[in-house]
Amino acid sequence: MAPSVIVVGASGAVGRPLMEEFLAQKSQFRRIAVLSDPSKVSRFIEVQAKGIEVVEGSFLEAKSYEGFEVVISLVGNVAMKLQPGIIEAAIAGGARHFIPSEFGADIAQNGIWKNRYFRDKVVTREHLRARAKDTPGFHYTLILSGAVAEYTVSEFNGVDVEKHVARTYGYPKARLHVTAMHECCFYSVCKFIVGAVLLPFDDPSQSIRELRVSGDCLTWEKLMELLEEVQGAKYDIKYLDPALAVEKQEAARAQGDSEGELFWSATATMANGYALLPEPSDNHRFAFEPETAKETLIRMFGSE
Ligand SMILES: NC(=O)c1ccc[n+]([C@@H]2O[C@H](COP(=O)([O-])OP(=O)(O)OC[C@H]3O[C@@H](n4cnc5c(N)ncnc54)[C@H](OP(=O)(O)O)[C@@H]3O)[C@@H](O)[C@H]2O)c1
Repeated sequence: MAPSVIVVGASGAVGRPLMEEFLAQKSQFRRIAVLSDPSKVSRFIEVQAKGIEVVEGSFLEAKSYEGFEVVISLVGNVAMKLQPGIIEAAIAGGARHFIPSEFGADIAQNGIWKNRYFRDKVVTREHLRARAKDTPGFHYTLILSGAVAEYTVSEFNGVDVEKHVARTYGYPKARLHVTAMHECCFYSVCKFIVGAVLLPFDDPSQSIRELRVSGDCLTWEKLMELLEEVQGAKYDIKYLDPALAVEKQEAARAQGDSEGELFWSATATMANGYALLPEPSDNHRFAFEPETAKETLIRMFGSE
């Protein structure tokens, strides 16, 4: 039977293009819904008019998830720590497939999990593992898609695409996987998420699944070379010690500035080897060709 799916955090950076991708593949789903706080439903008027259901309620209440088998969480940085509560409510409401807010690094690798940015994702993974053990029929999918390609060459990484200056925390030889996700269009990350909902588990008794997907894999230095080539401009590039970002993270924490703490912990991840996904890739399990890094840069900055 076609799945029924509800999305938490659908108004965010990943959520907006994801709902467009769901609409593009609407015929494959029995129900597609966004969960919205009652005071914020007006944000979903456009997608609602196109056929997305809007469920009004709290993401911590079981009744919000009743009638949906699949729950996708796209909560952002500050709400990330609330995911265990979302998982509990989803299970109590009858959901049987949970896709948590991941869409980045493989945080199980090489001590990456110790980075502050990933703390709440680690807690979420532990919670999911425990609940998958004691809840018959409950399973979950971790979608690991490396760095969002469009965010690599942005202020977030100290890349000024107008002045052609880059001051990036990290290292030129750091390798990273990138996957496109354009704000106003629906690109590879969203196609992988919708595809993952439709992709059956290989073994029905399996409760945990990881899908490693991406559009490209390259060094940070190569990414900057491609940017120079596509823009026809030479960059003034300097690499900053990631330890300096950790100092800023700690200063933000000491001031009780959670958003700042998360920002600085994330800023030294893309050019620091954290966005490199271990092989094998699961791209072959999806029926589309994701955009490469060069294609993304050409789309963003014009033709070569
Ligand atoms: N790998 C990468 O490069 C990369 C880049 C971007 C994002 N990501 C990942 O993608 C995921 C989603 O990130 P995003 O950038 O889309 O986040 P975002 O833009 O900050 O959106 C967050 C969403 O969460 C909702 N939210 C916030 N507080 C909430 C709360 N207390 N209860 C319920 N919902 C709440 C927001 O709704 P309201 O507006 O109502 O608060 C919004 O819809 C995260 O896991 C992030 O790490 C990865």
